[in-house]
Amino acid sequence: MTIEATHDPTMAAAPPAGGAIHPLWVRITHWVNAIAMFLMITSGWEIYNASPLFPFKFPQAITLGGWLAGALLWHFAAMWLLVVNGLVYVALGLATGRFRRKLVPIRTADLLADARAAFTGKLAHDDLSVYNAVQKLLYLGVILAGIVIVLSGLAIWKPIQLQELAALFGGYDAARYVHFLAMAAIVGFIVIHVVMAFVVPKSLRAMIIGQ
Ligand code: HEM
Ligand code: HEM
Repeated sequence: MTIEATHDPTMAAAPPAGGAIHPLWVRITHWVNAIAMFLMITSGWEIYNASPLFPFKFPQAITLGGWLAGALLWHFAAMWLLVVNGLVYVALGLATGRFRRKLVPIRTADLLADARAAFTGKLAHDDLSVYNAVQKLLYLGVILAGIVIVLSGLAIWKPIQLQELAALFGGYDAARYVHFLAMAAIVGFIVIHVVMAFVVPKSLRAMIIGQ
């Protein structure tokens, strides 16, 4: 028996424009974001290695930039790609109603039912245009983590000019921890997310060619 992702039929996704499951702007911003995130994470690890917050370092082989200054150059270059692309995605997500249609509401009962179905291999993936409650929660969560990492990044980049922002995080040192923990959350998301994309390959196809 398979359990269809629980959702309120009145909130069902509108018919996708041009028959695409994910419109072109979602696909482009999704993959640009994946590239920008890869550059930000690996350069961030090299920056971290110059002055670790915790008693470990990231292996040199998986970091970008070679040394602190090189990594900072990568971080500040890819930052523009990440932020401009992210603003386009969030603005269109709000303006087109996509976030409202696809990411909310998230009900606790649906979350429990869908999580149980997922863990027992009974979650249906028949309709790729509708996200189940677990997907909704993870996607909303990673979008929020993206906002937190950008704001905390700005706070540690310009701690004097943006003092109020740094103060919001509890000061420069705390903002560094927030920035690091948001990175850890995003990396955790990506691991699960990429595994799921390959477990359900047609979802990967839909995010690439739209069908
Ligand atoms: C607007 C976006 C961003 C800005 C302005 C920014 C800025 C910065 C700055 C200034 C540092 C150096 C902190 C220090 O001197 O100790 C840093 C470190 C770091 N960044 Fe970012 N960052 C941004 C986005 C990201 C993203 C998207 C990721 C990964 C998902 C990331 C991961 C890291 C990591 C892991 C470090 C090292 C943490 C530490 O040891 O302090 N950053 N970032
Ligand atoms: C190689 C890396 C990646 C792969 C293979 C991948 C794959 C996918 C696939 C197949 C979907 C369609 C989802 C579905 O039907 O459930 C999707 C959606 C999504 N992915 Fe990724 N992804 C990757 C990287 C990322 C990264 C780095 C992030 C953010 C940090 C991210 C955030 C999202 C979000 C928020 C959605 C929902 C988008 C929307 O519907 O508006 N992905 N991804």
